[in-house]
Amino acid sequence: ATHKLLLLPGDGIGPEVMREVEKIVGWFRKRGVGFETETDLVGGSAYDAHGKAISEAAMGRAQAADAVLFGAVGGPKWDSVPYDVRPEAGLLRLRKDLGLFANLRPAICYPALADASSLKREVVEGLDIVIVRELTGGVYFGEPKELVTLENGQQRAVDTQVYTTGEIERIARVAFDLARKRRNKVSSSEKMNVMKTGVLWRQVVSRIGKAEYADVELEHVLADNCAMQLVRNPKQFDVIVTDNLFGDILSDIAAMLTGSLGMLPSASLGAEDPKTGKRKALYEPVHGSAPDIAGKGLANPIAMVGSFGMALRYSFGLIDEADRLEKAIANVLASGVRTKDIAAPGTNAVGTQDVGDAIVKELEAL
Ligand code: NAI
Ligand code: MG
Repeated sequence: ATHKLLLLPGDGIGPEVMREVEKIVGWFRKRGVGFETETDLVGGSAYDAHGKAISEAAMGRAQAADAVLFGAVGGPKWDSVPYDVRPEAGLLRLRKDLGLFANLRPAICYPALADASSLKREVVEGLDIVIVRELTGGVYFGEPKELVTLENGQQRAVDTQVYTTGEIERIARVAFDLARKRRNKVSSSEKMNVMKTGVLWRQVVSRIGKAEYADVELEHVLADNCAMQLVRNPKQFDVIVTDNLFGDILSDIAAMLTGSLGMLPSASLGAEDPKTGKRKALYEPVHGSAPDIAGKGLANPIAMVGSFGMALRYSFGLIDEADRLEKAIANVLASGVRTKDIAAPGTNAVGTQDVGDAIVKELEAL
């Protein structure tokens, strides 16, 4: 089978970290994995070339690809371009047109970096969980949404949390499917004790779990308790599924269990095509274009490489390859080959390309 990848390196350190992914794609290709790659512009570089943050041709390629790998966009050069063509508009357009309603943020703690966590080594060492956040509904988008001045001079602000059965069903299925490729456990998080959307969320997730995923363990955790458990004993979780607001907060808590911004991958998934069973998907590091270090070869490529690892696992079903890549990253970190953001105190940091080369060498050796 061939896997069609669209690479959108973007701006700043985006192209630098994407180059390391290309090395790894090249290595897998040599080993017989059928990757077909195309590269296009997004963000400020697309604006410079076409006057907009992503061209229609690039959007067409994104629609046709099995997965999009996205670097990062933006930078001071484009700070004054008009709002609707600014670099971020490229990412927003991709999310909207590909219908990416599920955001996956893993929190992985490599043993070699456990001491960099703000928690105790034994609490985080070997941590490997994923937060599945609903991305296109809930209180960030619900109507009415308003801030009005009342007759008595007071102001009144309203946000509305809205979820429908269909929205909950589709995010639940993403979480259950994911759990099947992992350790087979889903923890669903809401506040059904005080919110109607929480009541519906729990009902729907339970029904989908029983009807379609009886083989996957399901538990329900109130969102405030979930926040506490993430800090107390995060290794009890495998996949956490939650709404847009709680997911925003819980994924940032989980991220900080593990250290640097340069280490955090993410995925955004869309609806399943009923004919092919495939989902639209975009994989990107959590970090931005880091203009302060761009062009210097200092960026940590592991968030970007890890995002490609997620594509292997979740878009292409290449589980052995994904495991091998994770192992290679862990070995490189353990060997002490690290960029400045994660280098141990008193050790010499290496450059972006050195980390990519070391990962390829480990892939070869494993
Ligand atoms: P940033 O994530 O680019 O950088 C924050 C800090 O983390 C900087 O000191 C940077 O050097 C460091 N850092 C980030 N990634 C790193 C890596 N891979 N290795 C080592 N150090 C790393 O966020 P910031 O500075 O707020 O934004 C810079 C630009 O990026 C802005 O134009 C912003 O709009 C854009 N941005 C784009 C995003 C995207 O493309 N999805 C997300 C966040 C910001
Ligand atoms: Mg946030």
